Amino acid sequence: MANTEKVMTTSLRHMSVEMIVGLAMVALALTSTAVRAFGADQPALLPRPAKVAMGTGQFTITPATKVLYAKGDARLADAATYLAGRLSQAFDKKVVAEATGAAEPPAGGILMTTAGADAALGDEGYCLTVTDTGVVIRAPKAAGAFYGGITLLQLAPAEAFRGLAMVEGKLGGKPTKSPPRPCDEPNISPAKPVDSLAVPCATVTDKPRFAWRGLLIDPARHFWTIDELKQYADYMALHKLNSLQIHFTDHQNWCVEVMKYPNLTPDKARVAAQPELLANQTYHKPARRYYTREQLKSLVAYAAKRFVNIVPEFEMPGHSGAFLRGCPECGCTVNGKQVGGGEVCPGNEKTYQVLQAMLDEMLEVFPSQYIHIGADECGKRNWGKCSECQKRMKAEALKSVTELHGYFVGRMSEYLQKKGRTLVGWDEILESGAKKGAIGMYWRSGRADKLIKNASTNGQYLVMTPTAHCYFDYVQSPEKKSEPQGFGGSVITLKRTYELDPLPDYIEQANPKVVLGAQANLWGERMKSFPHVLYMTYPRACALCEIAWSTDEGRDYAEFLKRLRSHLKRLDAAGINYREPTDIDKPK
Ligand code: ACM
Ligand code: ZN
Repeated sequence: MANTEKVMTTSLRHMSVEMIVGLAMVALALTSTAVRAFGADQPALLPRPAKVAMGTGQFTITPATKVLYAKGDARLADAATYLAGRLSQAFDKKVVAEATGAAEPPAGGILMTTAGADAALGDEGYCLTVTDTGVVIRAPKAAGAFYGGITLLQLAPAEAFRGLAMVEGKLGGKPTKSPPRPCDEPNISPAKPVDSLAVPCATVTDKPRFAWRGLLIDPARHFWTIDELKQYADYMALHKLNSLQIHFTDHQNWCVEVMKYPNLTPDKARVAAQPELLANQTYHKPARRYYTREQLKSLVAYAAKRFVNIVPEFEMPGHSGAFLRGCPECGCTVNGKQVGGGEVCPGNEKTYQVLQAMLDEMLEVFPSQYIHIGADECGKRNWGKCSECQKRMKAEALKSVTELHGYFVGRMSEYLQKKGRTLVGWDEILESGAKKGAIGMYWRSGRADKLIKNASTNGQYLVMTPTAHCYFDYVQSPEKKSEPQGFGGSVITLKRTYELDPLPDYIEQANPKVVLGAQANLWGERMKSFPHVLYMTYPRACALCEIAWSTDEGRDYAEFLKRLRSHLKRLDAAGINYREPTDIDKPK
């Protein structure tokens, strides 16, 4: 146990981007001509929708405008309630969301409905029609209606985004104190409530290119309050991002309450005994650095109302220092003694019992189809010396500790499958062990290319999140004086994120369906405050959301930057901290 601190990640993230080899469709059924038609007369929608036809005239939304939704659909009610909530913030007056039996909006209303929707728009597509008498959002599923609502807000002036995240219990129209920018200066959101919002007449027909559009946040390295996590999810929804992976556990901390194993979560006594646990907490020092089950359930519900799925990550078998501090009996046995370290013992049956019992509890809290077990950067330090590991290798005829890792992943994969869930892991799981249907997150740019080529043959899936484009803990510019701290010496500019190609030719030709989508990861080691988290996330998440949502036809960084300029005004109004693009972000 005592040596746990020594085994902190020796991460591949230390590699410079320049050392990393960069990555080299689900074709949209909609026509691509309109995509190219984006120009000066087009609204600055972001991510860029598939098709926009501008009309003439406008519709004016006021506090009296009702947001109606087809009766009996609870998820449509969520979508409508969210839109009404945002409008309420903009006006500082309550806008009503109400069920209706009507298939068309009454004059002056906004209607969300699945009736008459084009099934080809899929699970998340929509058709938004604004005329001078009202608004209709038709979508096959409620998620599409929700995204149609976001597009409607983007058609309106930036004030439509006024106010901070609508964390439950904090709705209200007071001017909101924005997070500091870039990282330290207090800043007040300039948006004042408005009396009305004029929206140009238009028809927007749209659907995402990929189903997985994600971000990762890392409270194991730096603890964020549950309200901050809610804000993070809320801001994602504004960008049509739908998957929030939370890295709940690592060497430094295990920050989810597990009732059967209370020693996993640090309590005050442990923090007192190990003050270094709080050494990185320069921003806020919550007395308790873990989330209760009730808090987690409230986060899941909050995110679900914004069509954001929480994908929990519980690291195993590596990155397990905190786990082993709480459950030392799951460590390896070397020279007759149980040792701690960074990896659990895959030879010991107890390890499976504890981890699976922990997962059983977590499956009650997290309804997500996808459960992430990490499985990256496993040092396997003790496995070669451990009597239990050696026994297991012999019994299972495993030739190496890598195969032992595969055995472990295979067992967890089977376990989750039995529970009706899908295992997700970093791309190391594709090396061995992951079962058919498992999802590997491609992160080791240039090192795991062979694995991603094999995924299709093995019936596995991929989420593209390569270090070379998607590691948001790397700084956005080499300007050392103006930039807050990032991880290592690498730089990932906005442009670099925008250059991500989630479907390199060699995958597209083989089997494009293997790629579920794209994700960016904001690891927490260097984050010093929540405004810093937002600063590192935006505007790169604006680039990521476009890569994950929009087709690549006609993709043009200069044109994206123009729309981004308008979009940043929305972030200002919402009080979302971001890095102001500078010369380095200009198209070359
Ligand atoms: C990772 O960055 N170790 C997935
Ligand atoms: Zn062992």
